[in-house]
Amino acid sequence: MSAEMTPIETAKYVAARRAAEFVQDGMRVGLGTGSTADWMVRRLGERIKDEGLQIKGVPTSAATGQLAREVGIPVVSLDQAGWLDLTIDGADEFDGEFNLIKGGGGALLHEKIVATASDQMVVIADAGKEVETLGAFPLPVEVIPFGWQTTRTLIEEALDAMDVLGTSVTLRMKGDAPRVTDEGNHILDLHLKRIGNARHLALVLNQVPGVVENGLFLDICDKVVIGYGDGRVELRDLNDGSVETDQPGDKAENLFSDLAD
Ligand code: 5RP
Repeated sequence: MSAEMTPIETAKYVAARRAAEFVQDGMRVGLGTGSTADWMVRRLGERIKDEGLQIKGVPTSAATGQLAREVGIPVVSLDQAGWLDLTIDGADEFDGEFNLIKGGGGALLHEKIVATASDQMVVIADAGKEVETLGAFPLPVEVIPFGWQTTRTLIEEALDAMDVLGTSVTLRMKGDAPRVTDEGNHILDLHLKRIGNARHLALVLNQVPGVVENGLFLDICDKVVIGYGDGRVELRDLNDGSVETDQPGDKAENLFSDLAD
């Protein structure tokens, strides 16, 4: 069955499965959102069944919460958990300092709150998500529905003074209607092409009335687990600067165990 996966799917799958090994008994774990995070959630469900792993999961979206319950992860709210040992989540882009763009799946607000409330954030991504400079992926910004067009105009005006290459801002749609987040908000996608000063931009965006949060995750991520289409996995740790690579054969039995039939 693994032969049916595209190289990108394989990359996401192996990164997610490898990162799920960081989870230990007794941990409170932030559960990310997206196709890569879904594989990680499924793997934790397997570990609960097979090994009796004891954890509590805090989902970053309604969709992840539903999947987590389906696969048998005990789910609690962030307020019930209080603080988390670890959050594992996907990303739309990451750079060499592990700064991220997130929110392609529309869950950036809960994702940022959960990741910030964790001792460690581990990002799981296929190798294509790595960039020299953030910004090719449109930057998602969550805004309240009231006066969203005014908020968009204010953001466009603010972008004129920023170190970015593009300034167009679009409302994310789902069919004919605006995409609605789990908090009932809208998402504006900022087509910036290149973000010269992410720190400055993040501060300025969050000053605009109507903006709830932006998708720049700066100084939040500690480790990146990068998957490749050939099944290789690279683990990079920002804190100690280490880089480890698992070849496909090293963990093949384990990584592909649920795809064996
Ligand atoms: C959701 C996110 C996702 O983590 C991001 O979009 C990556 O998704 P995928 O793993 O499907 O490529 O930020 O808001």
